[in-house]
Amino acid sequence: MENWATVSSASAEQTREIGAQIARLVDKGDVVLLVGSLGAGKTTFVQGLVAALGGRDPVTSPTFTLAHKYRTSPPVTHVDLWRLDHLQEVVDLALEEELDEGGVVIVEWGDAAEPLYGAEALVVRLDWGASDGERTIAFECRGRSWCSRAELLREALRAGSVGAG
Ligand SMILES: Nc1ncnc2c1ncn2[C@@H]1O[C@H](COP(=O)(O)OP(=O)(O)OP(=O)(O)O)[C@@H](O)[C@H]1O
Ligand SMILES: [Mg+2]
Repeated sequence: MENWATVSSASAEQTREIGAQIARLVDKGDVVLLVGSLGAGKTTFVQGLVAALGGRDPVTSPTFTLAHKYRTSPPVTHVDLWRLDHLQEVVDLALEEELDEGGVVIVEWGDAAEPLYGAEALVVRLDWGASDGERTIAFECRGRSWCSRAELLREALRAGSVGAG
């Protein structure tokens, strides 16, 4: 595990923009695990990312349905594990098939999926900042495929003028 970069976001709009920048480095078969408490901004981040990949449908937490699939390129499957009790339920989602078919899988409450997907993933950790609208967003890479994209990530964050610390 390697901590790549931490950025701060001053608004939901800026978190969407950061998600959109991260979309530039996402590729077929990738897993993104979002970690952060209720209301931290996980779904907001996914909104920016999905829109940047061409998604037109509204992006909301798939809390009750467990998974949404968006018509993006590559296709994004958005999962929310908040209500999950057993790891077997993650297994039953058959996310492996989505990945094998060239999809991208993005998981809210992604810590719950770490036993299955934690070895090769981008981990995005959202925390509350000093004021109401502020969040810190930390990026960690897991595995060679993601860790080799460190420079791309920094470039993407710079392009979004959010800087990388
Ligand atoms: N800098 C910020 N980044 C993201 N969201 C922010 C920020 N500032 C304020 N907000 C607000 O915080 C809320 C974040 O909600 P969001 O649904 O994205 O959180 P979540 O982590 O997905 O929560 P849940 O665990 O309930 O699914 C939104 O109402 C958003 O407008
Ligand atoms: Mg959410």
